[in-house]
Amino acid sequence: MEKADYIWIDGKVVGWDDATSHVIGNTLHYGFGVFEGIRCYKTEQGPAVFRLHDHLIRLRNSAKILGFEVPYSVDEMVESTREIIRANGADECYIRPLAYIGEGGMGLAYEDCQVNLLIATWFWGEYVGKGTLERGSRVKTSSYIRHHINTHMSKAKACGNYLLFQMARTDARRDGYDEALLLDANGQVAEGSVEHFFVVRNGVLVTPPLTHLLDGITRDTVIVLAREMGFEVREEAFSRDYVHTAQEAFFVGTGAEVTPVVELDRRPIGDGLRGPVTKQLQDAYFDVVKGRSNSHTDWLTYV
Ligand SMILES: Cc1ncc(COP(=O)(O)O)c(C=O)c1O
Repeated sequence: MEKADYIWIDGKVVGWDDATSHVIGNTLHYGFGVFEGIRCYKTEQGPAVFRLHDHLIRLRNSAKILGFEVPYSVDEMVESTREIIRANGADECYIRPLAYIGEGGMGLAYEDCQVNLLIATWFWGEYVGKGTLERGSRVKTSSYIRHHINTHMSKAKACGNYLLFQMARTDARRDGYDEALLLDANGQVAEGSVEHFFVVRNGVLVTPPLTHLLDGITRDTVIVLAREMGFEVREEAFSRDYVHTAQEAFFVGTGAEVTPVVELDRRPIGDGLRGPVTKQLQDAYFDVVKGRSNSHTDWLTYV
């Protein structure tokens, strides 16, 4: 990870190394906090953040689900995000807003603690694995189960939820795979560690419904683009063996962008290479996020 120069915290832009927090704080101990992952892309008109408002609305909603409030409006956070990107001066970056309890609040029940907000940026290349956008990723079905909807709140991007995803991704990578695929509590395919999952069967795109899942912004983007391109997209539950017999599969997410999945549990998907439908969707996605398309320009917030 490449450090940037500055981080925005509670209204101030401070040096990266000065952005510290007390060790006795609720979020550090219990994971009670919410965050977002957003990307800013280099475009011909300068850096542009992809679907910034949607991400910040989701941040406020994640806090609402946990039962606290982010102390800034969406409009205020939009401006603070632009401010920190300008301060760090990068053409493209990953953006990490985090609402957290930095000091105190050591009881488990949340009781009106001071909520801090930081917005950091840094460079983050291919998330799933180096080279996977082109060669595709090798994936392992995880032995961990995506949280049941009444265990952790699936629509909140809450810090504590990520322990599960960390274990799943770490295990998969230690076993030599690029990424994990988690099943849900009913044994149906759920998602990757921070990616939604699609298969292509006979030209139709199929993706699990949102029941157990975060309301993904890339998932929504890809569904909109795919339908505009004339593809049928179905949101329906499927089992892991449905993946083995698909012609193509891919992950989508802010980090993953559109990453082909070419192997599941040592069985190649299709011919084991990035498929033509995946490539078409990747191209359409990168055209939109990099400002090369005339459509969906309202999804870009210029810095
Ligand atoms: C658990 C989980 N699933 C899927 C995604 C992909 O969502 P998005 O496309 O909004 O980044 C993320 C990333 O935020 C995630 O944390």
